[in-house]
Amino acid sequence: CRVSHYKFNVVMKNTTRLCSSKPIVTVNGRFPGPTIYAREDDTVLVNVVNHVKYNVSIHWHGIRQFRTGWADGPAYITQCPIQPGQNFVYNFTISSQRGTLLWHAHILWLRVTVHGAIVILPKFGVPYPFPKPHKEIVIILGEWWKSDVEDVIDEALKSGMAPNVSDAHTINGFPGFVPNCPSQGGFTLKVKSGKAYMLRIINAGLNEELFFKIARHKLTAVEVDATYIKPFQIDTIEIAPGQTTSVILKADQCPGKYVVTASPFLDTPVEVDNMTATAMLHYYSTVANSPTTFTSIPPTNATPIANKFIESLRSLNSKTYPAKVPLFVDHSLFFTVGLGFFPCPTCKATNGIRAAADINNVTFVMPTTALLQAHYFNIKGVFTDDFPGYPPFVFNYTGDPPKNFQTTAGTKVYRLPYDSMVQVVLQGTTVLGPENHPIHLHGFNFFVVGRGLGNYNPKKDPKRFNLVDPVERNTIGVPSRGWVAIRFRADNPGVWFLHCHLEVHTTWGLKMAFLVENGKGPNECLLPPPKDLPKC
Ligand code: C2O
Repeated sequence: CRVSHYKFNVVMKNTTRLCSSKPIVTVNGRFPGPTIYAREDDTVLVNVVNHVKYNVSIHWHGIRQFRTGWADGPAYITQCPIQPGQNFVYNFTISSQRGTLLWHAHILWLRVTVHGAIVILPKFGVPYPFPKPHKEIVIILGEWWKSDVEDVIDEALKSGMAPNVSDAHTINGFPGFVPNCPSQGGFTLKVKSGKAYMLRIINAGLNEELFFKIARHKLTAVEVDATYIKPFQIDTIEIAPGQTTSVILKADQCPGKYVVTASPFLDTPVEVDNMTATAMLHYYSTVANSPTTFTSIPPTNATPIANKFIESLRSLNSKTYPAKVPLFVDHSLFFTVGLGFFPCPTCKATNGIRAAADINNVTFVMPTTALLQAHYFNIKGVFTDDFPGYPPFVFNYTGDPPKNFQTTAGTKVYRLPYDSMVQVVLQGTTVLGPENHPIHLHGFNFFVVGRGLGNYNPKKDPKRFNLVDPVERNTIGVPSRGWVAIRFRADNPGVWFLHCHLEVHTTWGLKMAFLVENGKGPNECLLPPPKDLPKC
């Protein structure tokens, strides 16, 4: 098998967007950062060298990290951060995965500028299950903040109120057309008439789900979160932070220029940065001064447009790529995910409470030693394994007006025996307000066997579960005022983070971890930690 080596120098870089400059944290001076190319079964070694004043850690989002949890990356969950002046070599093998993923910093809010694509090609000689595109292009959607995001976190934690939103969305690092800063550049996608292009689209933004579309062009979705899907045609992609979607774009319109947009989707009427990022699709054969074709932008609350995309997703489930859906369940869990309140003596403006986010009423407290180390070396007092599998009491989760209650705090994990079949119903709540939460699970892909509005009904809803070809992914949007049911097989020993991929909610505590015990066989145990694993 092949080994690819990468060097990630984490450095500050003065960067200009929206007509003003500021130093940002980058990998190798680039925003977005470099793309990692690998093939299925390759081993990847990334030497991350920290040259900045912040602690750093990098997560390879969606890479299963089978038995190599040490290389997963979330700070204080699987590793202590890489301190200024230090380095760490992430060493992992990609197995049974192919498609598009992303890597990003997994500490504080550094991922706002520290992120990039992971492109996993099929094994040598193995074709895609769809016609080979003429070219492949990575499209990274992101955010640009004029302010220092560390100040935004402080604001979120101290004021008790929702923090600021970004100043612009970006496509491959650029906001595109902005009214009061006309001189800046934007990303241009050059295509030849008649050819097909694969766009590997990634939402690397911090806090907003996005719609992606291209004027007058249909897109054929073929893969999400590095799993193949049954291809379908659509105008508009919905993509949450942490999710990836590969589409085929056919350059089948009259040669010319077509606007590409990434615009926010939020199915609740709270403050949203509604600046739309734009790029340009440009046919090579375009004649000078041919007009530009614009596109309508979906309203921010266009839930039907989002649902049309989400409800079309099915696993490919072919002979070569069967959907291995767990048909029975050993651990059936029910997690309420949402926002609530937490006592905050310093929050004067909000009468001593602040917004908190929780799962089953527990707001997660970050430890100061990595959970995986505490588990492996049996260090006591770092976490408890009493994370509740059910909420402490039943209420109308999606009711209006919501029932308010206070959360409790703790560093709790849920313990799973090796190879358990797990079902988690993720129930959105309206305690603070209805909102869609993109929930990400580390270490596994899961099957999305059910999804619905209102309160989950354990008697009726399982009858409608799709156990044949449900989509398989690593990040799933829990619909606002609704629920999703996921299933996975806990065959990867280690400590695995589960959290909302909206950074503001993670900061407020919408996170927990599964502890998957070792099995008995030689290939059923977590490998020993690498020698250079950072210390806390
Ligand atoms: Cu992409 Cu724990 O995150």
